[in-house]
Amino acid sequence: MSAIAPETLSVPRYRPIAMLLHWLIALGLVGMVAGGMTLHSMIDATQTGRDHVLFGPDGAIASTLAFSAIHKSVGFTVFALVLVRIAYRLANPPPPLPATMKAWERVAAHGTHILLYGLMLAMPISGWLMVSASPWGIPTVLYGLIEVPHILPQNAEVEAAMKSVHDGLSKLLIAAFVLHVAAALRHQFVLKDGVLLRMMPARRTT
Ligand code: HEM
Repeated sequence: MSAIAPETLSVPRYRPIAMLLHWLIALGLVGMVAGGMTLHSMIDATQTGRDHVLFGPDGAIASTLAFSAIHKSVGFTVFALVLVRIAYRLANPPPPLPATMKAWERVAAHGTHILLYGLMLAMPISGWLMVSASPWGIPTVLYGLIEVPHILPQNAEVEAAMKSVHDGLSKLLIAAFVLHVAAALRHQFVLKDGVLLRMMPARRTT
């Protein structure tokens, strides 16, 4: 017979769907940032005729296009998950923060969460605007199945501006992500107030 570990019982938790969405999106974002940086260096290598460190000289354009298609497909998937997460959160507000948290800590936590949600929306939208405006006119076909319409007329200057936005926001996303993880670890190992456990399923003992 298994039982819930006693030290985790008293923590008010997020609902299982909120936890699932949180961890899926977190995983998706890590993959998207790493994949986006790889894509950027592949495009750079393709445009300058250099060999790519990972993908070599063969089929540079084909592998860049294939990698870009994956980045766009997963990016739209993360976008959809973020929209579901926001709708779910509005319908199911999170459990209250521990009463021991100081006013500045609450403000910092809410501020980082709002920043993260804003960036999680702005990243796919700026990517979508970028590929829409691209003079290359490469279609966006999710997983090779569903074509997503392009929402801007082709214009190299708009594409370049959206590329700068997408790149700049990705740096801000990394900073907000690091801050969020650091705060979660501080709650777990310094304050020991169970805040991280709110996003973890109750641990079972045997
Ligand atoms: C959660 C969503 C997304 C994240 C976190 C993300 C992240 C990134 C990052 C970190 C880069 C590298 C930026 C650089 O170093 O210049 C990148 C590049 C890129 N992303 Fe995204 N992205 C997302 C969604 C999308 C979507 C939905 C699209 C298109 C529909 C897209 C299209 C691109 C393209 C084309 C590049 C290459 C830009 C270039 O260097 O020419 N991204 N992305």
